[in-house]
Amino acid sequence: MKIKTVFSRLLQPLTIATRNMTHTSSTGSKNFLFRQLFDNTSCTYTYLLGDADNKECILIDPVVEHAKRDFQLVKDLNLNLIYAVNTHMHADHITGSGYLKSLAGCKSIISRNSGAQADIFVDEGDFIRFGDHKLKVFSTPGHTNGCCSFYCQEQEIVFTGDALLIRGCGRTDFQEGDAATLYHSVNDKIFTLPDSTIVYPAHDYHGIMATSVGEEKRLNPRLSKSLKEFVDIMNNLNLSYPKQIAQKVIPKPNTMLAIMILFVKRTFSAIIQEVAKWKNE
Ligand SMILES: [Fe+2]
Repeated sequence: MKIKTVFSRLLQPLTIATRNMTHTSSTGSKNFLFRQLFDNTSCTYTYLLGDADNKECILIDPVVEHAKRDFQLVKDLNLNLIYAVNTHMHADHITGSGYLKSLAGCKSIISRNSGAQADIFVDEGDFIRFGDHKLKVFSTPGHTNGCCSFYCQEQEIVFTGDALLIRGCGRTDFQEGDAATLYHSVNDKIFTLPDSTIVYPAHDYHGIMATSVGEEKRLNPRLSKSLKEFVDIMNNLNLSYPKQIAQKVIPKPNTMLAIMILFVKRTFSAIIQEVAKWKNE
């Protein structure tokens, strides 16, 4: 069964996002394993893709706070994590790639144009392979220079990172963002895939878990417009900066330090909140 055949089942509350979904495609790709995981803080989706036969799996856009959770899931399913993959350098959360490398011994992957550190760099047209399955790399810059989308033709699914979100797209006002570039990335690449292709984004802030190419071509309030209208919209969003803009996506040698700083910051903030409550009582 292809992922898209169970698409309607995915439009459910986020609390069931980690349920088991193992799919066998009628197009020859059998035992394609898929999980969608969620981070409540940054509303980030992490995807676990695997081959249920040879046990190789990858994680797309892991979040550091959930690295242990994700690795536990990998172990529970008797899988072997070979890659931690990032669609781009994230500003709103710290990637779990470094932590997962220490837990699982996997390799990290990111686009060569990202400027981030990784074990393996990918470019347009490359393939990321796990077991019998593969993702084709599309370079889709505009949100950042190094943004990539990963297309799995056999399952008719695409992981778009922040290039294309559900009824939205990633911001283009920092991190080398460029609205016109993003417009062309989405229209000239993602929107040339079959309309039935299911889109799995890096985030959603409204509880929707997936969309399709045809749906976004028709209904995306930004990207269904002309280039000029899109650029005007993106240049007038007036968004505040993400809380973790100063953090790097691949904190390779400093991973543990970054985790410790994050832990201390959150603990300190919790203490301040408790003290404030006491004062008000
Ligand atoms: Fe982003």
